[in-house]
Amino acid sequence: MNLIVAVDNNWGIGKDGGLLAHVPGDMKYFREMTTGKVVVMGRKTLESMPGKKGLPNRTNYVLTTKEDYAAEGCNIVHSEQGLFDAISQYEPDEVFLIGGAALYNAYYNLCDKLYITKMNADLGADTFIVNIDEDPDYKVTSESEVHSENGIDYKFCTYTKI
Ligand SMILES: NC(=O)c1ccc[n+]([C@@H]2O[C@H](COP(=O)([O-])OP(=O)(O)OC[C@H]3O[C@@H](n4cnc5c(N)ncnc54)[C@H](OP(=O)(O)O)[C@@H]3O)[C@@H](O)[C@H]2O)c1
Repeated sequence: MNLIVAVDNNWGIGKDGGLLAHVPGDMKYFREMTTGKVVVMGRKTLESMPGKKGLPNRTNYVLTTKEDYAAEGCNIVHSEQGLFDAISQYEPDEVFLIGGAALYNAYYNLCDKLYITKMNADLGADTFIVNIDEDPDYKVTSESEVHSENGIDYKFCTYTKI
């Protein structure tokens, strides 16, 4: 499985149930990386999306404990085991963990590649992931040049499990 996330300087990823910033270049990168693939998310991340429905042109899996939960375009799973059973039918590199913090923090160490957009800013997050730079199991294997949009400098980093 892969992971894709955008973080600020504090490894913040969200605020008030939504994203920290509007960075069109990162949205495009996310779309390009995940289109045609399988995406896995928590119920809160799904509900932060427009229309609270699955992302188009992707196979969506949503994890929730809520029985009878339904969302347009989504496959619902109710437990970690249910999730792992469901995604075992796909090639691991076809599956992307797309958030939020609960899922990233629980499962990032099962991911071989972490596609992390680093925004060079303090964006006042209330939701964080662990600092991957402090995890000796991951190494930065590529890093883009710095882009700038809406006053935010950012770069695309790939971490690989070693
Ligand atoms: N910067 C980024 O790239 C990025 C990406 C995605 C999300 N985000 C942000 O992250 C924030 C949301 O993160 P979050 O941590 O609050 O929520 P989340 O991870 O999206 O969803 C958490 C929910 O997932 C379900 N869940 C988690 N583990 C489960 C398990 N083992 N079994 C069954 N259900 C399970 C539970 O749903 P129930 O309560 O329904 O049981 C839980 O409340 C938002 O601010 C969002 O904008 C940022």
